[in-house]
Amino acid sequence: MSGETVHIAPSSGSYDVIVSASALCNAGEHLAPLLPSRSAFIITDSNVAPLYLDRLRSSLALRGIHAAHAVFPAGEASKNLATLSDLLEAMAAAELTRSSTVIALGGGVTGDMAGLAAALYMRGISYVQVPTTLLAMVDSSVGGKCAVDLAAGKNLAGAFLQPLAVLADTSTLKTLDDEVFADGCAEVIKHAVLADSELFDILAERPLNKDDDDLYLMTVIATNIGIKRRFVEADEREQGLRKLLNLGHSIGHAVEAASGYTMGHGHAVAIGLCAIARASERLGWAEEGIAERIEAVVAAHGLPTESPFPAKELIGFARLDKKSDDYGITLAIPKRIGSAELRYVSFGEFAYAIELGVGA
Ligand SMILES: NC(=O)c1ccc[n+]([C@@H]2O[C@H](COP(=O)([O-])OP(=O)(O)OC[C@H]3O[C@@H](n4cnc5c(N)ncnc54)[C@H](O)[C@@H]3O)[C@@H](O)[C@H]2O)c1
Ligand SMILES: [Zn+2]
Repeated sequence: MSGETVHIAPSSGSYDVIVSASALCNAGEHLAPLLPSRSAFIITDSNVAPLYLDRLRSSLALRGIHAAHAVFPAGEASKNLATLSDLLEAMAAAELTRSSTVIALGGGVTGDMAGLAAALYMRGISYVQVPTTLLAMVDSSVGGKCAVDLAAGKNLAGAFLQPLAVLADTSTLKTLDDEVFADGCAEVIKHAVLADSELFDILAERPLNKDDDDLYLMTVIATNIGIKRRFVEADEREQGLRKLLNLGHSIGHAVEAASGYTMGHGHAVAIGLCAIARASERLGWAEEGIAERIEAVVAAHGLPTESPFPAKELIGFARLDKKSDDYGITLAIPKRIGSAELRYVSFGEFAYAIELGVGA
């Protein structure tokens, strides 16, 4: 079956995202013409390795690409400097050179860590993303951001590095836990609210499911990558427009933090998206009825619409948001389905918006 290709062209290096149901089996064919040498290093986690590592390695071997690998314990708890250090040592032990390529096989945690390892090793070698979660396909593998968490907060140590290519194989989604798949759906819904009312209507009519046919998944995923492309091409370093991609995230991050990071990122974003829509509607910033429409689509994807934490608890965490300064924060606000804007508000106004969106 053929797939879709989305070309991403930020100023620091363009690349293709290939979305197909056979990208993994054809990885060698896709990558052989692109890699600077036949030496590669696959980074993956302990859940993904038993499922897909052999398939990737065999496909690369068929094209003469020799790939050593490292496997780290799955989960956000591994996304730290200690794991990064282990990975860099493993890369050195495998005698990677400046012309070797790191291949990230896994979800957003793997992509973020492998990208940063590639950015640091010998001051930067090339890397490829093979995302295996919906979130990684539609969000984290595109845009060039990579980071690890510090004790002080998430994603605090990172870099920008564009991949050589992204190979998104939709068949890998079938083995995801439902909750992890739903996490990715939250970013898909966010993209639709932000920039594509047609996609929103499609999602309302036919909520995404990991067992959907590959053609449907491929089309929706490629559409999402196209949306993210528009923002990251226009604003590679997140100085303006790209901040719109934070829609639902300012309140979402507070929910995530209030849960002690036990709630999945997408689940928290879903709550944040509904909350900011309710608040924006009440404040007259967004069209009437928008919150109800978003809530319906969020719920249809098995995601929560209400915060389990009261506004006052979230307000404390919201002040710590990385996107804030001493006085206030730049919020992404939905205007109507398919359109959003940035609005700088004081902390007082933000706290009021949280109360309106979440309930006191
Ligand atoms: N760099 C960016 O621009 C960016 C954007 C958004 C999110 N992120 C980061 O992404 C991370 C979240 O990504 P995620 O939700 O993919 O998390 P993840 O990588 O931890 O994957 C979630 C879980 O699914 C498992 N898994 C992955 N693929 C699988 C498959 N095909 N079958 C079965 N299990 C599979 C993983 O082992 C893990 O347990 C966060 O760390 C977040 O900060 C980065
Ligand atoms: Zn997100």
